[in-house]
Amino acid sequence: MRIFLDTANIDEIRQAAKLGIISGVTTNPSLMARENRCDLRDVIGEITSIIDGPISAEVLSSDPGGMIEEAQQISSWSPNVVVKIPVSAAGLEAISVLCRRGIKTNLTLCFSLNQAILGALAGATYVSPFVGRLDDIGQDGMALVAEIVKVFKQYDGFSSQVIAASIRHPLHCVAAARAGAHIATVPYRVLMQMIDHPLTERGISLFAADWQRIARG
Ligand code: G3P
Repeated sequence: MRIFLDTANIDEIRQAAKLGIISGVTTNPSLMARENRCDLRDVIGEITSIIDGPISAEVLSSDPGGMIEEAQQISSWSPNVVVKIPVSAAGLEAISVLCRRGIKTNLTLCFSLNQAILGALAGATYVSPFVGRLDDIGQDGMALVAEIVKVFKQYDGFSSQVIAASIRHPLHCVAAARAGAHIATVPYRVLMQMIDHPLTERGISLFAADWQRIARG
């Protein structure tokens, strides 16, 4: 499983990139708003200068023509840009046109197996089931990820990669890997939590203390 960072915060991306384990970034309008930024092109430019991998940027239009036009623009900024398009009839139409034009897409706000299947048939490069938001309403978000992965594997033509999105805590990452998600897109806070373990911290302190004791004689 690969890990993308789910943020539009440039400092977080810079910090995470240093670890050498991040292979892409996903943004959305809410993440942009959180950083008080509406200059999508600049933000995407900054991200592509830090991370050499797929960077998702979302369209705001709701009609196929508008989505396609926005997608053409967004994808012209960098070969690494992936256009995020929400599930809808308009979104599927836009994805199929963009797929034929060789533009990479990420089907976002995916909450059902049917939506994921339609995204794959339309030719989406990535399909993003939102795990945390399903959990929030009492449904099993990770079960959906596992189901999508399983169904996609049954068919040769289904080449969309599954991104476990709306990840809220480290257990989601473990479960995404077990479910066979190609990618988990994680907030910076969760990435940091993935690193931590109290026994590691205790072990490091113990090693340091023992070494000090023996070095002092
Ligand atoms: O990648 C999708 C993600 O940004 C949504 O996360 O926490 O707003 O449900 P959340």
